[in-house]
Amino acid sequence: MTNKRPCVVVTGANRGIGLELVSQYLADGWQVYGCCRRPESATQLAGLASNSALSIHQLDVGNPDSVEKLALALSEQSIDLLINNAGIYGGERQSFGDIDYAQWAQVLEVNTLGPYRVSTALANQVGSSGRRLMVNVSSAMGSIERYTTGGHYIYRSSKAALNMVTVNLAHDLRSRGITVLSVHPGWVRTDMGGSSADISTQTSVAGLRQLIRNATIEDSGRFFSWDGSALPW
Ligand SMILES: NC(=O)c1ccc[n+]([C@@H]2O[C@H](COP(=O)([O-])OP(=O)(O)OC[C@H]3O[C@@H](n4cnc5c(N)ncnc54)[C@H](OP(=O)(O)O)[C@@H]3O)[C@@H](O)[C@H]2O)c1
Repeated sequence: MTNKRPCVVVTGANRGIGLELVSQYLADGWQVYGCCRRPESATQLAGLASNSALSIHQLDVGNPDSVEKLALALSEQSIDLLINNAGIYGGERQSFGDIDYAQWAQVLEVNTLGPYRVSTALANQVGSSGRRLMVNVSSAMGSIERYTTGGHYIYRSSKAALNMVTVNLAHDLRSRGITVLSVHPGWVRTDMGGSSADISTQTSVAGLRQLIRNATIEDSGRFFSWDGSALPW
């Protein structure tokens, strides 16, 4: 089945930046596959489903079976844009000498292995689309050059590793015409960002959508902030 509308898959679609991505792409006329761990309790996402262009799917990016199920459900669907948005911070115990190792493994599973897993599972569907874009929602906290302070070992290492995944995917998928980006959404007022963060989800997502709209294959394997500026690795 092919759609006339452009099609986007969003992971972690039930709250925060993911929910706003769903909302803005729907408003822009896209077909949206909103993926979340627990559709039965995703009330805000379900509230957008009066728009028939939204389809909600179960997806735990840390669970290979769940990713395979999604890929099977979408096997006939061309996907113009995959946004690997789902992510976790990893709790408070991530300073020098005080690390929760179980959390570290879990954060790598979700923030680093998750986007790789989903990108490989959906690569054929993205490659068969018109726009052929994959966007990994990273963080400026994963920039090795930008940070001159310590701490946040778990989250920072997961996003720095995700950035390397982006570069690798960009190389491996270039021959299929697929553009792969890492993006920093800003410091955003969500459950993760907290209420004193700089910008709203609306502002962040409006900026991300514009930079995604302007992205070309020449940008593949690069790291951008939500306002379109380039970030150092
Ligand atoms: N907010 C910021 O200031 C900021 C800054 C830089 C980067 N980011 C990045 O932006 C992305 C979105 O963050 P946010 O601020 O919107 O965070 P959030 O409000 O905490 O939302 C996180 C989303 O990820 C989902 N998720 C967590 N683990 C998952 C898993 N295993 N499988 C599928 N979904 C999972 C959550 O679903 P559940 O409801 O099921 O937990 C939720 O939908 C993350 O990658 C984050 O690292 C955020």
